[in-house]
Amino acid sequence: MKKSLLILLMVVFLVTLITTLAFASSPKSVEDMVKQNKSCGVSCHEPDSEHNLKNEIKEMAKEGNHADVSSMVSNESAEKCMTCHSSDFGEILHVAHLVGTPEDNHFLAEVKSGEANCISCHSLNAKTGKIGLD
Ligand code: HEC
Ligand code: HEC
Repeated sequence: MKKSLLILLMVVFLVTLITTLAFASSPKSVEDMVKQNKSCGVSCHEPDSEHNLKNEIKEMAKEGNHADVSSMVSNESAEKCMTCHSSDFGEILHVAHLVGTPEDNHFLAEVKSGEANCISCHSLNAKTGKIGLD
């Protein structure tokens, strides 16, 4: 009886330890990054602007680059995009913002003029120089 109690305690202890370690070392998620950027609404895709994310989907759909899922997404945030993009949001955002020329890509035009760059989305630790995924 005592022995099985001891084993039970050990198991509980181990499970707690493993869960704590797993959460402590888990990297920031893309959802955290989106939140940090106020859902992409920071001076780029503001909810009441022409370039809100609902309109961006409509625009892409018009150009044949996206299914028209505008009724599934919000003009206010990128959270709804995660239904489909939680595993590839970085990649598709890199292509959408960083491929092309300043003439055909609005983001690259702002890179050229010095208004936009990687840290429009990513964090930068000014002390260490590390670029973060948040
Ligand atoms: C119902 C699923 C779904 C939702 C919701 C969705 N997407 Fe997509 N999206 C796709 C699929 C499928 C593709 C093509 C495959 C891929 O690259 O993931 C795609 C592709 C893209 C691309 C690349 C287009 C290109 O030119 O190749 C961008 C940018 C994009 N989505 C942005 C968004 C944004 C921003 C939102 C939220 C406002 C969103 N998507 C919501 C399914 C979705
Ligand atoms: C429009 C917003 C945006 C811009 C601009 C951007 N990134 Fe990202 N990046 C993301 C998102 C979102 C992720 C995915 C984060 C995650 O999955 O945790 C990501 C992920 C990454 C990763 C992790 C590996 C990967 O691809 O998932 C690296 C490295 C990275 N970005 C580098 C850069 C560099 C370098 C630049 C500038 C040349 C840049 N990014 C510009 C949004 C952006």
